[in-house]
Amino acid sequence: PHAKVAVSFNINGKPYQLGLDARTSLLDALRDHAGLTGTKKGCDHGQCGACSVLVDGRRVLSCMSFAVMQEGAEITTIEGLASTDGALHPMQQAFVDHDAFQCGYCTPGQIMSAVGCVQEGHAENDDDIREYMSGNLCRCAAYPNIVAAIRQARDDMKEG
Ligand code: FES
Ligand code: FES
Repeated sequence: PHAKVAVSFNINGKPYQLGLDARTSLLDALRDHAGLTGTKKGCDHGQCGACSVLVDGRRVLSCMSFAVMQEGAEITTIEGLASTDGALHPMQQAFVDHDAFQCGYCTPGQIMSAVGCVQEGHAENDDDIREYMSGNLCRCAAYPNIVAAIRQARDDMKEG
């Protein structure tokens, strides 16, 4: 057994203190230690985007990041996007409105990455959306609907 390392960060605005093996990925910390299973494990090596979360507002592939590197960070997962009164985030609503998922496995990562994409200013046109969302694979090939959803949410978030 390896010695545990203490790490503290906020997830969706709540403080967490975890004792983790130093090699624990942020993805496994979220799913197995914080009990937040909305973030999905697809490939576990940086190639599918299913594990995308926001760290201090920037999108991160949580399977590729060690949890202990996130000391003090503000992490946002799919569970933290809706407002406390239950209203969906504009990106979640847009995915519903445009049927932007089929099996849904890629969807939490798509939505988190899409929020980051809009916040980065990389969603101004469909080509940009496709390029800057290219790290998020969808085996169901819902891509046209995903692009349409991001277009809508981009405009809603601007009004926002
Ligand atoms: Fe992280 Fe696939 S699970 S990129
Ligand atoms: Fe099935 Fe994207 S909706 S993998």
